[in-house]
Amino acid sequence: MDDISGSAQPSGTASARAHSNIALAKYWGKRDVEFNIPAVGSISVTLEGLHTETTVSFDPALGRDELFLGDVEAPSDRVSAVLDLVRHLGDITAFARVTSHNNFPTGAGLASSASGFAALVVAACGAAGVDATPRELSILARRGSASAARSLFGGYVELHSAATSDESYAEQLLEGAAWPLSVVVAITDVAQKTVSSTVGMQATSASSPFYGAWVSTAGTELALVRDAITQRDFATLGERTEHSCLALHSLMFTTQPPLIYWNSATVALIHAVRELRASGLPAYFTIDAGPQVKVLCQPQDAEAVAAALADVDGVIETRISALGGGAHLLTSPAHGARK
Ligand code: DP6
Repeated sequence: MDDISGSAQPSGTASARAHSNIALAKYWGKRDVEFNIPAVGSISVTLEGLHTETTVSFDPALGRDELFLGDVEAPSDRVSAVLDLVRHLGDITAFARVTSHNNFPTGAGLASSASGFAALVVAACGAAGVDATPRELSILARRGSASAARSLFGGYVELHSAATSDESYAEQLLEGAAWPLSVVVAITDVAQKTVSSTVGMQATSASSPFYGAWVSTAGTELALVRDAITQRDFATLGERTEHSCLALHSLMFTTQPPLIYWNSATVALIHAVRELRASGLPAYFTIDAGPQVKVLCQPQDAEAVAAALADVDGVIETRISALGGGAHLLTSPAHGARK
């Protein structure tokens, strides 16, 4: 298991890195809005190639929390709410300066909130001297953004839905090295999405006639994905991944007003992946709340998949990612660098 616990001694400042993740069995909808408990469990892979680095400094001289994304100040109630939880655990009152950098476009369906909140809780706990377990850190990250709970861990990760906040945590199912797959990300638009996941999923639960079926079939779908991972059954994992993606987007299409995150390149990429498969190259697509397409494949096929996707009209960039590790502190004056 990755060592992701925070430093036991408060240093006031700490930095952390967390990788993005992509869900194979998707989360959409909330069981509890206040505690941000997902209505369904989800299973993801952590992506080595996409990460956020965040530094948190608790500073008694500050009159409010300050958040900088890149060089741009971006105040966030959600970030302050998570910092409040950490302040409570660390018994501190100081506000924090938070600086955060992504190595990928923010807010366009590449799960910046996942890597962002995972890096935030690890850095904040390190800076506040909160000695949290990986499970506790995943619960804290979930309060910021449910998919972030999964970015605390590397490889294959499951986030549980549960009746209480303490039981809705993420855990690693399998290390990435135990079954090294690749994900090719095809970026089709770098603009911020117009409807956030949080807002979109609340609209879906309120208006899609299919939402009840989504929740009631989730347990069966999760078990199929979990079993495919246990058995290293790539074809079944890919088929269930595409099914979960298309079920999610069917929910989005039937939300009122409809949520259509796809653009024409998204659709063309779906067909391109199906053609690759028909030609004998095993590759499977998945898409979150944005127009980018992520394609699951075996490492020896990743270059060929990326080349085929790069040829699709409207694709701006492709990136190949291996499976990554869990969130971790980058610096800790009390302990030195930690992995
Ligand atoms: C489509 O985790 O961003 O990516 O908990 O409201 O912050 P909040 O939502 P978020 O939703 C992710 C939705 C998804 C599917 C998934 O990652 O499981």
